[in-house]
This record gives sequence, structure tokens and C-alpha cells, in this order.
Amino acid sequence: MPPASTDANNAIQKLYDVCRASLSEKGPLSPRDSLDNVRAALDMVTPSDVGLEREAGAVRAWRSPRAALGRKRVFHSSPAIRYRHIYECASFSIGMFCMPASSIIPLHNHPGMTVLSKVLYGAAHVRSYRWIESAGSSINLSKARPAKVVRDGEMSAPCGAMVLRPEEGGDVHALRAITPCAILHILTPPYSSQDGRHCSYFRRRPRSHPSGVLLNRTGGSEFVWLEEYQPRHNFIIRRDLYTGPALKL
Ligand SMILES: [Fe+2]
Repeated sequence: MPPASTDANNAIQKLYDVCRASLSEKGPLSPRDSLDNVRAALDMVTPSDVGLEREAGAVRAWRSPRAALGRKRVFHSSPAIRYRHIYECASFSIGMFCMPASSIIPLHNHPGMTVLSKVLYGAAHVRSYRWIESAGSSINLSKARPAKVVRDGEMSAPCGAMVLRPEEGGDVHALRAITPCAILHILTPPYSSQDGRHCSYFRRRPRSHPSGVLLNRTGGSEFVWLEEYQPRHNFIIRRDLYTGPALKL
């Protein structure tokens, strides 16, 4: 189904307009105001603004046994995570992940990128890390690096957007769907291999490894070692058609 017709008052159109005015090829034009504007516009987006009204309605009754039949009709039987791409330019990208219950997007990075995420429907567990080194230090991804958990909790719609900022060293996160859920993502600037911004995956170095133990427990802080790895072959993200309102560019 092609995208529905343009509506200038739609929240996704407003989000696009605010992104155009606030984001550059180097990220937010100003660290505070621009980011706050994008965040406020993202907070206004609902599932019906992006063509996910039916899925959101089915998830509201997810925990009810009587809803099982309806769930099968609405959600894909495939366990694959689906990505619906909405827009991309040199300054930012907008897209959403539709995740089946219990699916996982492994720990991955967004080098030098600011990430705004909002759970549109359903619930997800989010864990994000901050590298211990300062943001400006050189990075060797082939070696394990120490990191600290900065967020570890559930996000359940309706809720506000969360932000990962490279200036704060927090560009690594993992997502696990508690129920079927959709997460709207804005990346600024977007991934770009030619500009050195490509996605790497990480895992915690096993505790059995000599350096896999926690580095430091003082002051309530726990540091872990993260090493780059290739996710299993059954980790698949399928590209799906965006069926929400078309953007007026
Ligand atoms: Fe991400």
C-alpha cells in the first residue's frame, strides 16, 4: 500500500519540518534548543500519524487471552524485525522499527551521531552504555573497551522520547521488545559509511575472560568490557513499506 496523502497538520510532517530547521550534517544546530525542538515534535507523534493505528490497537489488548486471535491477524508470524524507512538526507534520517515480542536488536553504536527514539506502541527494554574514554579519544573497535550502563529499564507507550548524545559518550544501546512494539528513530547525522559512520555490534566480554570481570564497584559504578562481534545469522531486519502519510518535502 503506498503512503497516504499529505496532511500539513500531521505530526510526522511537523516532525520533518522541525528536523529540517534544526538539524545539520553535523547534528543539531544548537546543542540545547534544536534538540529540544526535535524532541518536542517527536513527542507529538502517535501510531496513527505513521500508519500503525491497527497494530497499536491490537497491542493495547495484548495481555488479554481473548486477544490472541486478533494478534495473529494483525502481526506478522515471522520473527523478523521490520524497518520502515520514512526519510533520509545528509542531515538526518527518520525511520521506525516494528519489533515482534521478545525480539532483540543487539547492542550497537551510532558513532558521532545523536539518536532520538520514541516508543509508539507496546513496551521495550532499553539498555544504553557510555564509553569510559572521553568522546574525543581515538577509538579502536577491534579491542574490548570499558563502558558504563547509563540506562537500563522499560519504556512503555505512551512515553516521551529518549536521547543518546555523542558529546556525553552515550552512543551505544540495545533494545528488547517486551510486547510487539514500534520505535520511531531519528539519527542526526545519519549512518554513512563514506563518512566513517557505520553500525558495529557489541557484546559483553564473558566474565570467564580475565578482563571480563567488573572493573570498578566504587561509588555504585559498575564498568563492563564491550567487544565488537558479528550478530548471529538469525538476526534479521527486513525492510518494510512505509504506509503512513507522505511527507511534503
Ligand atoms: Fe540504535
